Amino acid sequence: MTETETNVPWWQTATGYQIWPRSFQDTDGDGIGDLAGIVARLDHLADLGVGFVWLSPVYASPQRDMGYDISDYRAIAPEYGTLDDMDRLIAEARARGIGIVMDLVVNHTSDRHAWFRAARASRGAPERDWYVWRDAGPDGGPPTDLRACFGGPAWTWSEEAGQYYLGYFSPFQPDLNWQSPALRQQIWEMMNWWFARGIAGFRMDVISLIGKDVDAGTFEEGPDLHRFLREMHRQTLRGRDVVTIGESWSVSRDTARLYCGADREELDMVFQFNHIKAGWDDTHGKWKPRPRDLAALKDELFGWQEALADDGWNALFLSNHDLPRQVSKYGDDGIWRLRSARCLATAIHLMKGTPFVYQGEEIGMPNTRVAALEQLRDLETLGHWDEERARGTSWDAFLAGANENGRDTSRTPVHWSDAPNAGFSTGTPWIGVNPDYPRINVARDRADPDGVFAHYQRLIAARSGRRLVSHGRFRGLARDHPRVVAYIRELDQERLSVVANLSGEVTEFDVPDALAIAGEPLSWSVRPRDRIDGRLVLEPWEAIAVAR
Ligand code: GLC
Repeated sequence: MTETETNVPWWQTATGYQIWPRSFQDTDGDGIGDLAGIVARLDHLADLGVGFVWLSPVYASPQRDMGYDISDYRAIAPEYGTLDDMDRLIAEARARGIGIVMDLVVNHTSDRHAWFRAARASRGAPERDWYVWRDAGPDGGPPTDLRACFGGPAWTWSEEAGQYYLGYFSPFQPDLNWQSPALRQQIWEMMNWWFARGIAGFRMDVISLIGKDVDAGTFEEGPDLHRFLREMHRQTLRGRDVVTIGESWSVSRDTARLYCGADREELDMVFQFNHIKAGWDDTHGKWKPRPRDLAALKDELFGWQEALADDGWNALFLSNHDLPRQVSKYGDDGIWRLRSARCLATAIHLMKGTPFVYQGEEIGMPNTRVAALEQLRDLETLGHWDEERARGTSWDAFLAGANENGRDTSRTPVHWSDAPNAGFSTGTPWIGVNPDYPRINVARDRADPDGVFAHYQRLIAARSGRRLVSHGRFRGLARDHPRVVAYIRELDQERLSVVANLSGEVTEFDVPDALAIAGEPLSWSVRPRDRIDGRLVLEPWEAIAVAR
């Protein structure tokens, strides 16, 4: 597609919004969010202007990994509602111009899935081959010493099966064997069943793992990944006007177009994490964060803009249910909370790609702090505490890492109002509500014309209303500057200039010629309309965006 073409796919001008259902809105007082709660809040999302919702898993699940362990792909978890509720959500969202994108979790199922029970029960069952089994090693132990992503061994002995099975994430999440054509057929049918219900696409959980070669030890981006994605496209996606976003922790700038290049017939875009991992320790990963390094973050973000400039498409985000909330991680959730939330949004949303807003981000919700082990809920964090403890990490050091990068701190309930429990639930919330909610909540932020919500509304409207924002060519500037993000976007004769001070300090910035800040401020900017060049003094967390 060229930049000036008028018919572009709807998801290139839309903004996505991630709902993590357990903490969005409870309506029946059980302390757990539900589908009726999402329906009740659709007007909030319509007012924000988003084009689609990525709905984290709502399928039947024992919730060991908060729904990323599915026991029935065609049923809704009872605490979330029923299939009728789901149909109602799809219809009510559609009536507001919002598509529902489901989470496709098919690298693994729950160990409670009927397929796994049947597989475990008998070597002769057709389902046996749908999972990954191996005999014990010569010493009677696991076939390899592979570790699981959430801690512990990746192989679990099943007495009933008389073999080990692979659970690459945890023993509760046995890996599906994509080598089985019959298994793949089951998945295509399931996907088509959901499309027939009217969903707008799929976000595909850890999709880069499906082509793995277990015996070769190649898990990420294995030899059959793209063959399977192309088969999926033929069997389910071809001819449908839907969006697909594949999650990949291994994709690089070099491999990205294999997933989402125009002639690939695989996916529309990937969630990549190179900019996130730029802030992690080489040995301890996310549990030992590196000091903030804006130049490293920019190097990834800008590099990805360039890598997919002519082919492929970027997904733009800093936060999700696996990551810290952005205002706490990359901004300042103290005195500069409002400004830094708006500044980060400007810097990210005006890049080229499809932005994703994680629930609560649109009001600048901060992370919740965890103080004690009993407050932790997340399987990954608990599993890694066991691992880190075994290698001598102190509780205090681990807790510091878990508070900065762990998954519980961004999973607490959305703050709707200053009512008890933030208006999330009339019962006892499944996880503690952030005590900040009387000060930071949707009702209060939306009443403020300079609030975070109003700012997101303008950014989202600019994307859907102005081709310069959605499709303008990106050029990154001042790449090594440790505090300032600066870039331009160009389309035909139009130019958008963005400069943002991602710091709490007044920052002097020598404006590069190419930035040529001039034109109409996109309405949220406070700067005059005259050309700004030479030396610019940026206020803490100030962002300027002007177009002409
Ligand atoms: C993805 C999900 C994460 C989940 C994991 C295993 O990374 O986003 O929440 O735990 O896959 O399904």
